[in-house]
Amino acid sequence: MEKSFKRYLITSALPYANGPLHIGHLAGVYVPADIYVRYLRLQGREVLFIGGSDEHGVPITIKAREAGITPQDVVDTYHTLIKESFKGLGISFDVYSRTTSAIHHKTASDFFKKLYEEGKFIERETEQYYDPEAKQFLADRYIIGGCPKCGNPDAYGDQCEKCGSTLSPTELIDPRSAISGSKPQMRMTKHWYLPLDQYEPWLREWILEQHKEWKVNVYGQCKSWLDGGLQPRAVSRDLNWGVPVPIAGVEGKVLYVWFDAPIGYISNTIEIRPHDWEMWWKDQDTKMVHFIGKDNIVFHCIVFPAMLKAHGDYILPENVPANEFLNLEGNKISTSRNWAVWLHEYLAELPGKEDVLRYVLCANAPETKDNDFSWKDFQTRNNSELVAILGNFVNRAVVLTHKYFEGKVPALETPNFPLLAMDKEVLAELPLLKVRIEESIEQYRFREALKECMNLARLGNKYLTDSEPWKWAKTDMERVATILNISLQICALLAIAFDPFLPFTTAKLRNILNIKPQLWDAMGRSNLLAAGHTINQPELLFDKIEDEVILAQLSKLEATRQNNATEETPPPAPPPCEPQKPECSYDDFSKMDIRTAIVLAAERVPKTDKLLQLTINTGIDVRTIVSGIAQYYAPEQMIGREICILANLAPRVIRGIESKGMILMAKQPDGNMRFITPQEALGPGCVIN
Ligand code: MF3
Ligand code: ZN
Repeated sequence: MEKSFKRYLITSALPYANGPLHIGHLAGVYVPADIYVRYLRLQGREVLFIGGSDEHGVPITIKAREAGITPQDVVDTYHTLIKESFKGLGISFDVYSRTTSAIHHKTASDFFKKLYEEGKFIERETEQYYDPEAKQFLADRYIIGGCPKCGNPDAYGDQCEKCGSTLSPTELIDPRSAISGSKPQMRMTKHWYLPLDQYEPWLREWILEQHKEWKVNVYGQCKSWLDGGLQPRAVSRDLNWGVPVPIAGVEGKVLYVWFDAPIGYISNTIEIRPHDWEMWWKDQDTKMVHFIGKDNIVFHCIVFPAMLKAHGDYILPENVPANEFLNLEGNKISTSRNWAVWLHEYLAELPGKEDVLRYVLCANAPETKDNDFSWKDFQTRNNSELVAILGNFVNRAVVLTHKYFEGKVPALETPNFPLLAMDKEVLAELPLLKVRIEESIEQYRFREALKECMNLARLGNKYLTDSEPWKWAKTDMERVATILNISLQICALLAIAFDPFLPFTTAKLRNILNIKPQLWDAMGRSNLLAAGHTINQPELLFDKIEDEVILAQLSKLEATRQNNATEETPPPAPPPCEPQKPECSYDDFSKMDIRTAIVLAAERVPKTDKLLQLTINTGIDVRTIVSGIAQYYAPEQMIGREICILANLAPRVIRGIESKGMILMAKQPDGNMRFITPQEALGPGCVIN
C-alpha cells in the first residue's frame, strides 16, 4: 500500500535558458509532468507544479561571448521565449521563474552557507588552467587544443566534437584560451566539494532498498553509479556568472550550476508560497516527484538528495520518473545541428494543433527506451485516431441528438424499452476503464493511460455503430433515446478522461456538451448528463491533416540536412576491415547456438576495468555471462537491452565467476566494440541461423 500524502510537489527539470524548447524536452519531461499534475488537480488534491529556467553555467557565457552580448541578454531572450511557448502548449506551471532571480540567489547562497558553516564540505586545492591575459581561470570548454586521439586542432577541454572522445584539458596538445587565444598557465585554485562518498551507505539504503519501485532505467543507473563508488564533487567554479560563493574574502568564484539549479525548485516555491513554502518542503506529508530526462538522473537521485540530506531539514523525492530520449525522423535531436522540431515554430506554424502534439508526444513517449518522432506518424495518429475515433464519435453523438431530440439529452430507459445486453455491457465497462487509467497514471505509465482513454472513445464509437440508432429511428424512438443517452454519457466521460492529456480539446468538448469541469470522481459514472439537459451545436474537435502540411515540415528538415552536409567536412576514411577468416563447413557453423537474449542486470566486476558481469534472460534460462566490454559500455547502458549471444560456449570461470556463454560483439576497424542488437525487439530466445 502506498502511503497517502496531503500534498504533491511536482517539479520539472529547469531548462537551460540558452536555446528554444524542442519536442525532445516536451516528450521527456514537460508533457508527462503536466499530465500527472492535471490528473492530481482533477482528483482534487493539493498540488504545486514547479518550473523555471536554469540561467547559469558555462554554455550560457560562451553563447553570450560568441554573440557579443551579455549572459543576462542571452537568458532574458530565451527565458521569455521558453515561458511563452510552454504557455502555448498548455503546460500548467504554478510558477515559472528563473535562477537569476533575487530570491533564488539568496536561497542558493543560504543553502551553501549553512552547509559550509556546518563543515559539510571539504576544501581542496588543485591546479587549473588560467588565462593570464583575460585574468581568469578557464572552464574546460574554454580551453581549445589538439585532440590527442584524432588530431583535430580545435578540440575542447572536455570533448572533441570531431571524434567524440571525452577529454580532460591537460590531454590537449598545445592548449590555448578560447577567450584571448593566449597560452594558459597552470595555477592553484581552491574549491569546495560535497563528499558524496560519505553519503554512499545512506544512498544505497534509501534508493536500492527503499525505492525498488522506481523505473528500471532510473534504478539501474543509480545502482551502477553507487556500485562504481561515489567521489567528492566540486560545488564551486572559477567563473563570474552564477551565484557568488558566499564566503568572506572569496572572489571570482560561483556555485557550480548543478549545485544552484535544483535549489531553484525551492526558490520558485518560496516565490509563490512565501508564507507556507516550508510546509511544502519540510513536511513528511508532501509527496515530491521530479520529472526529468535521463541525462539528469545522477543529479536528481544522488547529488541533490545528498545536498538535501546534508542540509537536514528537507524531504526527499518519492519518485524520479526519468524518461529516455526522443529522436526525430531516425536521428538524434541536436540543437547545434538544428535537427529538431522547435516548440515556438510548431505553435506558430500549426496553430490550434496544440493537443495533437501533446497526443503524439505522449503516445510515443520514450518511457522505457529511446523513441522516434516522425511527421508521418504524427499525421497518422491525428487522422486515424484523433479524427477518426475520438472526433468522429463525439460528432456523431452530438449531431444525432440534434437531429432526433432537438439537442436535448434523451432519457436512458423507459418502461417499454428496458436496456439490452449490449447497453449493459458498455455501461459495465466504464468503471473498469476508470481504474485502468488511474493505475497507469499513478505508475507514471502515461502512454498506457492515454491508450485506455482512447479505448473509451473506441468503445463509444463501436457502440454507436453497432446499435444503429438511424435504423431504429424509423420504428422506435425510445430505443434511439437509450442509445444516445449512453453515447452522450460516454462523451461526458471523455471530457474528464482526456482532460489531463488534451486540455484544449476537453474544454471544447465541455462547451459542446454545455457542462462544467468535473472532478475525477465523476469518471466511470454513467449519469453525468441529466435527461432534458440541452447541449450546444456540434463543432469539430479535430481536423484532418493533409499531406501538404507534412511535406512542408519534412522539406524544412531536408533543408537542414543538406545545410549540415555541406558544412561538415567528410570524416577521415576508416581504416580497412579485417580480412576474411579461413573457410568453415556448415556443420561447424550449425553447432553454434546463437540466440537473442535480454540483459536484466549489469555490474562491473570489482577490481577490473575490462569486465562486466551480466545477468541475462536467454529465453531458456537466466544466467550469468562475464564479458570484456566494460571499456565500451557502462553497466547502465546494457540494462534492458536486447543482445545476441553464443549460448552453448563451454562455461568458463572468470575472476571466480562462472560465465555461461558469450556476448556477440562487432569490432569496428578502429578497435571499438559494439554489441549486436536486433533491429526490432524480438524477445529473448530466438535462435539465429
Ligand atoms: N538545465 C538542466 C538541463 O537542461 C536541468 C536542470 S534541472 C535542475 O539538463 F534540477 F537543476 F533544476
Ligand atoms: Zn578527436
